[in-house]
Amino acid sequence: MTAVLLANVGHKVYCVENNKEKLAALSQGICYFYEEGLQDELTQAIAKGTIEFLLAAPEAVSQSEAVFLCLPTPNVPHMIADIGILNCVIDEIAPFLCRESTLIIKSTVPVGTSRRIEEKLNCTIGEKNIHLIMNPEFLRQGNAISDFKHPFLVIVGENHYKSSIMEQIYADIIQAEYFYVDTSDAEMIKYASNLFLANRISLINELSVLCEKTGANIQLVRTAIGKDPNIGNQYLNPGIGYGGSCFAKDINALIRMGQAANIHLPLIEAIQSVNNRQKQLLIEKATSRFGQTLYGKRFAVWGLTFKPGTSDIREAPSICIVNNLVMFGASVTAYDPMQKFIQEKTPSLFPVEYASDPYIALNGVDALFLLTEWKVFTEIEYSRCVEIMNSPLIFHGRNVLDPVKAKEVGIELIQIGVPM
Ligand code: UDX
Repeated sequence: MTAVLLANVGHKVYCVENNKEKLAALSQGICYFYEEGLQDELTQAIAKGTIEFLLAAPEAVSQSEAVFLCLPTPNVPHMIADIGILNCVIDEIAPFLCRESTLIIKSTVPVGTSRRIEEKLNCTIGEKNIHLIMNPEFLRQGNAISDFKHPFLVIVGENHYKSSIMEQIYADIIQAEYFYVDTSDAEMIKYASNLFLANRISLINELSVLCEKTGANIQLVRTAIGKDPNIGNQYLNPGIGYGGSCFAKDINALIRMGQAANIHLPLIEAIQSVNNRQKQLLIEKATSRFGQTLYGKRFAVWGLTFKPGTSDIREAPSICIVNNLVMFGASVTAYDPMQKFIQEKTPSLFPVEYASDPYIALNGVDALFLLTEWKVFTEIEYSRCVEIMNSPLIFHGRNVLDPVKAKEVGIELIQIGVPM
C-alpha cells in the first residue's frame, strides 16, 4: 500500500519482497491479495514507471533517501511480539544505508524497540548519521487506500529533533495534522488505538450475551447508545468476535508487556477472553439445536474472510467456527467472494468443499452460517434460500440480514444478542 501510493505521487520507489512467488506476481503487475482499489493503483504505478520490485534489499536501500520498514511482527508464544524479522532486515541493510538517510518503521513494535534499534545503529554505523522515525499506520483492510490518504493524524515518533521529512514525503498525498512525539509514545499510540477499538467490540459483544439472556435486543440498544455523541456509533457491531492481523495480536502484545513489567491488566485480558468466547457462540447455538454431535448434518458457510473487502483470513472467527463444525462431524460447503485466494492457502482452516455461488452452497443444507457481511450476502434473496435449503435456518453471525423479511418467507434467524 505504502509503496504503491507513494509511487503514484511521483516518488521513485523500490519495493523489496523476499518471497519469490509474490515478487514475480508484483513484477507482472498482479496484486497477489485482494484489497479494494489496490490493483488499479498498482497498475497505474507500473505504467508510470515509478515503482520497481526487487528481491535484494541492499540494492534498494543504497539508492534511497528514505527506507520504509513494513515488516511483520507476529504473535509468538512467550514474546510480546516477534521482532526477529525486523532486526534481521536492519542488520542486512545497515551497511548499505546512504549517509543521512531516514529509516521509517511502519511495523507495530513493542514499546522501546525503536529506541533500541536507534542505539544499535549509532553503535554500528553512527558515522552515517541515520535518522530513525517510528510512523505507525492506521489502515483498516478493505479501506486501506482511503485510510492512508485521510488519516485522523500522522504520528511521527523521533527522539532527538523534529524533522519535516515525513511531511515532505507525504506532501502530495496526505493532508492531515502531524503529531510529533518520541518513538516510545508513537509505538504505544498504535497499541492504544487498537486497544480502544477492540475494547468497544468486546464490550458490545459481552453486552449482547447479557441482552439475549435478559430479553433485550442488542441491535436496538446499540443503535440508541450510538446516538450519544459521547459514545458514537463506530465499532459497536456485535457478532462473532473480531479477527484480522491486528486486534488479536496487539491485545496479546499488551498483555505480555504487562507481564514483562509485572503488572496485572485485568481489563485488557478480559477483552481477549470475551473475544474467544464470542467465536464459540454460534457453535453452542448449533449444538443446543442439533445435539452434541453434528454427524450427518450439512451446513453452508457464507463468508470466511475476517471482514468484507479483503482476502485476508488471518485470525478470522470463521476458522474457529468452520473447524468446530467439521470436528463435531458436520459436512460444510463454503462460499466466499475471495475463495480463490483462500483455498489451499490457509492450513489452519480444515478442508471443506467450496461452491461456485452462494446459492449452490445452500443445496440440501440443514442450516446456513453467515460469518462475513459481504454485500452479496446482505442482498440475499430470502425466498430463493427457502427453496434450496433442506430447512430454512440461518445462524446469523453479523446481524446484517432483515429479520422481518426473513420471517415473512419462513426463515428462522438465530441471531447474536437478540432473544428468540
Ligand atoms: C484494525 C484497525 O481498525 C486499524 O486502525 C488498525 O490500524 C489495524 O487494525 P482491521 O483489522 O483492518 O483494522 O479491521 P477493522 O475494520 O478494525 O475490523 C477488525 C475486526 O473487528 C473485524 O473482524 C471486524 O469484523 C470486527 N468488528 C469491527 C466487529 O466485530 N464489530 C465492529 O463494530 C467493528
